Amino acid sequence: MALSAVANDAMLPRLSLDKITCAFGAYTAVDNLDLDIMPGEFVSLLGPSGCGKTTTLRMIAGFMKPTAGTIAMDGSPISSAAGALPPEKRQMSMIFQSYAVWPNMTIGENVAFGLKLRRFDRETIARKVKEVLETVHLDHLAERYPAELSGGQQQRVALARAIVIRPRVLLLDEPLSNLDANLREEMRFEIRRLHDAFNFTTVYVTHDQSEAMVTSDRIAVMNKGKIEQIDAPYTLYTRPRTRFVASFIGRTNLIEGTCSGATIRFDGFSLPRAAFENGGGHLAGQVQLSVRPQSVGLLRAQPAMDNAFAVQSELVERAFLGESWDYVVAPVGSGLRLRVAAVPSQVFEVGDTVWLVLDPQQMMVVI
Ligand SMILES: Nc1ncnc2c1ncn2[C@@H]1O[C@H](COP(=O)(O)OP(=O)(O)O)[C@@H](O)[C@H]1O
Ligand SMILES: [Mg+2]
Repeated sequence: MALSAVANDAMLPRLSLDKITCAFGAYTAVDNLDLDIMPGEFVSLLGPSGCGKTTTLRMIAGFMKPTAGTIAMDGSPISSAAGALPPEKRQMSMIFQSYAVWPNMTIGENVAFGLKLRRFDRETIARKVKEVLETVHLDHLAERYPAELSGGQQQRVALARAIVIRPRVLLLDEPLSNLDANLREEMRFEIRRLHDAFNFTTVYVTHDQSEAMVTSDRIAVMNKGKIEQIDAPYTLYTRPRTRFVASFIGRTNLIEGTCSGATIRFDGFSLPRAAFENGGGHLAGQVQLSVRPQSVGLLRAQPAMDNAFAVQSELVERAFLGESWDYVVAPVGSGLRLRVAAVPSQVFEVGDTVWLVLDPQQMMVVI
């Protein structure tokens, strides 16, 4: 690591968005949103196109004022409907989807630009540019022009330019969406590495769930201008609270159950209430359950164990995805169709009788 990390965590800012709304005329793009980002945390805003991610990020950066609500940095208000601290006074850097590197400047000049604006002397600028270019593995290309670089390298220039001024907050808006798949995967780790090395508080906007999962301490899943759930990646995946979150983070089966005394009835089969989390105490009336394809087992014959919840089914569709089989299975006498993920060696044919093995502990209630 060429640049030394900021030693003092206390210097890292906490960001608090308090009941932030942003309306464009009659349309509410961001709707009464609360979000607390801890010093040094990496938080992603994840959601489908149009859900208000960029608008939220632009308000954090100071490019836009909220219609209502307050954004505070370390407890001091920086944005409200009444006014906003200008972007250049926030010690934040923002990186956009279009790399926005200047084509008529060399890589070195691109990275030096922010330092020149800040009136550093020539020697300091040269040293800082060299250090940061080493950090993003571009030191050998300092004299080149952007057109002579690949997309991935240009995105590294954009990163170098953002971090050379040592911002306290790094804001990234879909920074990898113009890159091809392999490079995207590599750059995810790179961005997390830079976050750890330089100690920013980072807010990362993406519609790509794996990008958010690889990089983030917590992910805020957004839908229609609101945050539906904010949690660590593992918690979001295993304990989604809403149908939207369950379906947006990975794939899932949503099935409806009816609670009736000691039994939860599904279309074509039943499971004992006591087998669910907390003894099923949280289940009442009609419930929606999220069942991950990975949490369902498939067997060729009825299992012998008494405590396995196995449902006789027919295999109705299959696709081989390389890393796994994607099966569609229909319980006998049921209108349900469940997706099941199985390891490549577990081969079934369409039409086979199979036993679906359900784990009620992994069937999560969603609203
Ligand atoms: N300047 C604007 N004027 C009017 N509508 C806008 C403006 N900017 C964004 N919107 C609308 O607000 C919604 C959220 O936009 P945006 O924050 O860019 O979504 P995302 O980044 O999640 O794709 C979209 O429906 C978009 O069309
Ligand atoms: Mg956007």
